[in-house]
Amino acid sequence: MADTHRSSEGPEGYDVHSAPIMGPFVAELLDAADLGPGDTVLDLACGTGFVAHAAAPLVGPAGRVFGADIDEGMIRVARDHHPRLYPDIAYTVAPADRLPYEAAVFDAVVCQQGAQFFPDLTAALTETARVTRPDGRFAATVWAPVERQPYFLAERRAIQEYGGPDTIRHFDKAFTCTAERLATALGAAGYRDIAHREVTFGIALPPLDTYAHDHLSALWGSLITAAGGAEALTRAAGLVRDELADHTAADATATLPFTAILVTATR
Ligand SMILES: C[S@@+](CC[C@H](N)C(=O)[O-])C[C@H]1O[C@@H](n2cnc3c(N)ncnc32)[C@H](O)[C@@H]1O
Repeated sequence: MADTHRSSEGPEGYDVHSAPIMGPFVAELLDAADLGPGDTVLDLACGTGFVAHAAAPLVGPAGRVFGADIDEGMIRVARDHHPRLYPDIAYTVAPADRLPYEAAVFDAVVCQQGAQFFPDLTAALTETARVTRPDGRFAATVWAPVERQPYFLAERRAIQEYGGPDTIRHFDKAFTCTAERLATALGAAGYRDIAHREVTFGIALPPLDTYAHDHLSALWGSLITAAGGAEALTRAAGLVRDELADHTAADATATLPFTAILVTATR
């Protein structure tokens, strides 16, 4: 099993319940990649295709959009659950360090919240450099430290209490990639003009009385249930709500800051 976010409801759960958190960052990532009409772009570690989907209208009918992810389930949902686009998106199951594309075919490679899961970051970025044309662009986001993200911090406490030691290790993986680590790997892979900045959005989450349970269940449900039974998931969701009570409105919605590190580079 890849060391990554897994979904107990399968990738369908990831697609529905991660969308409110992932969605706001997509436009910022694509803007940083400076996509234009006619570009050929790869969404690396595309998951269910949030970024690929938004890239299609930017590159237009003369452009091409590809998505690659190691997880067959993610690619299945990306292919089956989203509307056909023009240009249509070509999704492929592939690991980041062995991409099934010719050299120098992409004008840009984008990667939203995937780089922290690559077992060998430099090998993966060397591979993205291979498939990117000279002067092509790279843009990726990874999460800033969990301590600065109230929603994820609340989930972390819940997983620490109810998920067992293995689950917290998987959870923490999402927050372990620093800008420095990415910059070092990009340099080793042959990129230049490497830059980074933080991007923060105040995201209005759906009512937490259901969302706290649904998001935990989608990403960590099977592991929490394995550690403590079905009750553990209900208690874990309750803990998330309690932790965020001071930030929760009367209608149970909460608007919370989420911060990503956005790294850009030129091939
Ligand atoms: C948090 S999800 C992000 C998915 C998507 N980019 C998004 O914006 O929703 C991380 C993704 O990285 C993928 N992944 C993890 N390791 C990978 C690898 N070595 N090669 C390719 N994809 C990988 C996972 O399968 C998962 O879909």
